Amino acid sequence: MESLKLLLKNLWSYYSQYKLYSFVYFLGVFLDLAVESFIALSFKFLLDNAIVPKDQRVMIIVLLLLVLGTFVSKAGYAFRCYLYSKIVAGIIRNIRNQLFGRLQQLSLKYYSSARSGDVLAHFSSDVSSIEYLVNMAVPAGVHAFLGIIINTVIIFTLEWKLAVIALAGLLLCAIGPFIFSSRASLANDNMKEKQAELLSMVQENIGAQKVIKSFNLDKTVSRHFHKNTEELSRKTSKAFFLNDLMEMMPTSTIEVFNVLIICVGAYLAFIDYITPGTLVSFNSLFINLSIAIGAFTWVFPVLMESSSSMKRIKVFMDEAPDVCDSSGAQNILQFGEGIEFTDVTFGYTDQQTCLSHINLKIPQGASVAFVGHSGSGKSSILNLIMRFYDPRDGSVKIDGQDVRGITMESLHRLTGIVLQENFLFNTTIKENIRLANPQAGDQDIIEAAKEAEIHDQIMSFPKGYDTLVGEHGGQLSGGQRQRIALARALVRRPSVLILDEATSALDPRTEMAINKTLKRVTEGMTVINSTHRLENIKDYDLICVMERGSIVETGSHHNLIGKNGIYAELYGKQGGFIVAEDLGHAEIEVDRLAKIDLFKQLNIEMLEELAELFVSEYYSPGQIIINAGDYGDRFYVIVRGRVEVFVALDDGSEKIINFLEDGDYFGEIALLKEVLRTANVRVCTPCLVLSLKRKHFERIISKASGLKLELEREMDTRLLKLADGV
Ligand SMILES: Nc1ncnc2c1ncn2[C@@H]1O[C@H](COP(=O)(O)OP(=O)(O)O)[C@@H](O)[C@H]1O
Ligand SMILES: [Mg+2]
Repeated sequence: MESLKLLLKNLWSYYSQYKLYSFVYFLGVFLDLAVESFIALSFKFLLDNAIVPKDQRVMIIVLLLLVLGTFVSKAGYAFRCYLYSKIVAGIIRNIRNQLFGRLQQLSLKYYSSARSGDVLAHFSSDVSSIEYLVNMAVPAGVHAFLGIIINTVIIFTLEWKLAVIALAGLLLCAIGPFIFSSRASLANDNMKEKQAELLSMVQENIGAQKVIKSFNLDKTVSRHFHKNTEELSRKTSKAFFLNDLMEMMPTSTIEVFNVLIICVGAYLAFIDYITPGTLVSFNSLFINLSIAIGAFTWVFPVLMESSSSMKRIKVFMDEAPDVCDSSGAQNILQFGEGIEFTDVTFGYTDQQTCLSHINLKIPQGASVAFVGHSGSGKSSILNLIMRFYDPRDGSVKIDGQDVRGITMESLHRLTGIVLQENFLFNTTIKENIRLANPQAGDQDIIEAAKEAEIHDQIMSFPKGYDTLVGEHGGQLSGGQRQRIALARALVRRPSVLILDEATSALDPRTEMAINKTLKRVTEGMTVINSTHRLENIKDYDLICVMERGSIVETGSHHNLIGKNGIYAELYGKQGGFIVAEDLGHAEIEVDRLAKIDLFKQLNIEMLEELAELFVSEYYSPGQIIINAGDYGDRFYVIVRGRVEVFVALDDGSEKIINFLEDGDYFGEIALLKEVLRTANVRVCTPCLVLSLKRKHFERIISKASGLKLELEREMDTRLLKLADGV
């Protein structure tokens, strides 16, 4: 009943946007019903007042009224249809716009937990269900409801004794739906929920095809899917059965009562208690009434079904954005002094803490880099500056003003952002750049593209700036996409340029070229760069080293190297490789090799020889370097790039154990023992790695007697400490 109330309330608000149209439409429905009832009543007038007494005048009047009424009602029908189509189309347009508007208001926190299948279901099945309701069920429902009232009133005036029998039938009709409606509504809710879950599952499956194929998970995921379709099938049959029951019970009751009325009516006419005209008209009216009730019972399940859609839309519309403009928020027109973090603590969920007690000043015009391992909180700092999220404690201020008191639009207007993966819309290059600044003229766009050093390439395409970029920019190379994203950020003439691993996903050659461009265009700008690759930010004014959500060191490159702390260690780890001009080939320096635990006991000659035996390998994102269960015979050092270490769980999902980046190494056990790999290693960004084979390593260490045994013993102790050795 609660959901029905909500449904009626919402319907009222939908229709009240079209008051005049709705009034005219429903007035037309009323007139139609009046004519229908007159047709039924005409039998009484014709039989009792014209045909039997042979009164020609009454006959002509009744027949004329019949023809005229029918003509007027049918002529108005086309006009009503036209009006109603406008109402329906307008209501659905408004719902779609409201839903989409809410989608734009919701903060990123919502998007990180919401399943896109569920959100899409609001736009597809929920909107369709309301469209069906408004287009079909509401007019049929109103027609039926008014029909029931008009016909009931008339039969009571005609012959109350027969009308009491009819009323008894009517009441019995209402009891069925009353008993089953809440159960049917619950069953419909359950079915819809399961349908949305299944849709999400299919969507996830499409995205996960690479993993599914590479781990032969097709049977596992199909089993999981079948289990869910089985459950949906159970819920569907229950919902459909209850809907059918609600539909069928009243019509059957009506039929039984119709026969009863004919029997009783015929007897009353036989004993001259009522006229034959009354009997015929009564029967016609009762048939009208039963049709109205039949229609109403068809409408009822549709109402129930739509009310669950309406409920889900309401829950979505009531979803409060976590981050929105506060009342009295002010526009910030320019950026003059700096950005300040004061004792900021933040987590994406209440249970988690990603940043703790961050205190920091970023002066206007400075170049600031956040460096550190993956997951240390670099991007989270940028998220807070952009106010994609709010801190749990502390404050982020721009020119002394808390970002929570600044309108989001003006805050975002100050910034240009380039991410690791930049979304390009499936339109032209020109429009993709202009998105960031709708006022930008063609010349501004060309200017920005020139600064991003992509102008010449764009001009070499047959359609130049009007080239379509394809879905997600698929027609362009990774480097071209990044440069267009940079042009898009620059066309805003931003006061602050934010870079989040902007060049990490590129192959080494493109990365180097884009970094050169970045260095040139950011001259004198406030730049905030989150990156794990230190080579690119050596000349920055301020480098903040992050570890587990805290800033652990700050200073210039020179400064930090002098401190010989975490930064120096990170820098040492990423250095020591000689990368060839073409960036497709690398070598490792002997000093760098000596820093790897396993090689610490090797003498200089052995290390020199070993360095020669490393082979360069290049991997693209998605490729698997190590498969769990295979025999390993190689050791790997990452020169550039990022990989993820993960294990497959029984239910078909994956658990990521670790991310490894520039200078990290993996697979060292394989150099000493023939063991099965215990985890998988997959490439996240283009990777240049150096690999060493066991047989080569064994050849070198066999030169010193007892060394192998000693290394093995040492490895065993280390393995006991390191549970996740690959
Ligand atoms: N949208 C999110 N929802 C929940 N946790 C997140 C989200 N984004 C990042 N995290 C977590 O927050 C921590 C910091 O992440 P992030 O700032 O992205 O690190 P970095 O940029 O240094 O790699 C990590 O543990 C990460 O798993
Ligand atoms: Mg990051």
